[in-house]
Amino acid sequence: MKKIECIGLLTSGGDASGMNAAIRAVTRSAIFNGFKVKGIYRGYEGLINGEIKELTSQDVSSIIQRGGTILKTARSEEFTTPEGRKKAYDNLQKEGIDALIVIGGNGSLAGAKALADEYDFTCIGLPGTIDNDLYGTDVTIGYNTALNTIVECVDKIRDTATSHDRIFFVEVMGRDAGFLAQNSAVASGAEAAIIPEDRTDVDQLEQFIGRGFRKSKNSSIVIVSESPKNGGAMYYAERVKKEYPEYDVRVTILGHLQRGGSPSAGDRILASRLGVGAIDAILEGQRNVMVGIRNDEVVYVPFIDAIKKDKPMDKDLIRVLDELSI
Ligand code: F6P
Repeated sequence: MKKIECIGLLTSGGDASGMNAAIRAVTRSAIFNGFKVKGIYRGYEGLINGEIKELTSQDVSSIIQRGGTILKTARSEEFTTPEGRKKAYDNLQKEGIDALIVIGGNGSLAGAKALADEYDFTCIGLPGTIDNDLYGTDVTIGYNTALNTIVECVDKIRDTATSHDRIFFVEVMGRDAGFLAQNSAVASGAEAAIIPEDRTDVDQLEQFIGRGFRKSKNSSIVIVSESPKNGGAMYYAERVKKEYPEYDVRVTILGHLQRGGSPSAGDRILASRLGVGAIDAILEGQRNVMVGIRNDEVVYVPFIDAIKKDKPMDKDLIRVLDELSI
């Protein structure tokens, strides 16, 4: 196999705080170890369209503290087709890129796997998503910052909830995973979290109301994961209005504000470690793995596991919230 001299780098899917810190780490660690680095703009779209430029160490100066991604990002429909991936591969060849590092979530790493399988090409993934839904890594880049943002928002909502004696259903992102919802509920002292991983056979609203929360509390905050399996915050608010009209209900959908902002120290450190880990992986001859973190150690997770296996929710967190929200 050809010796790796030039590494391509892209960010793909939803942006996540800490992606810039990862771009900086990959670029600097690659240059430190004698590789050339080429930045690919707008994810796989840019790879297909040839939006590629060499990155120097100075190009990644002063970005560790910035949210979003300087390489920009996209969700590419064309790359999901074999024809799209052929164009992408041709551009990798044309640019002399010998390995590709992809920072992104589930769909982005599935794309990297498809390219790697079809063209026997070295791809390394970094978990970059606020959803924290990639198997094999304890956390993903952007998750901690998003969690802090949610908690900050819920603290503010709490003031109104308490002043008006209201129930607030606060909807948070996470796609089909409830990590953001469950952990932000624990961290903000919310009364309940409605998440897709929890007791799907039980009506979670009935359960929450059934606990008689109003006996000891004047206000309530329920964090609802956006997963369609739940129905979302509007669904629960409408139900309360119909089934328990005595309660004063409001909904807040936090939306994309959860994705932005300066990354937390935790995300910056994680992104820096994983970025260096990606270059270590290439130096060690690893291919087609995601670099993750488990028990504070950098690990390599085969793409197939990272994207296909369901990441388990720690059931103890459900109990912790239940016990502490009485
Ligand atoms: O995967 C990250 C994420 O923010 C999800 O939590 C959310 O469901 C989705 O992306 C939103 O995507 P978009 O920004 O394309 O609307």
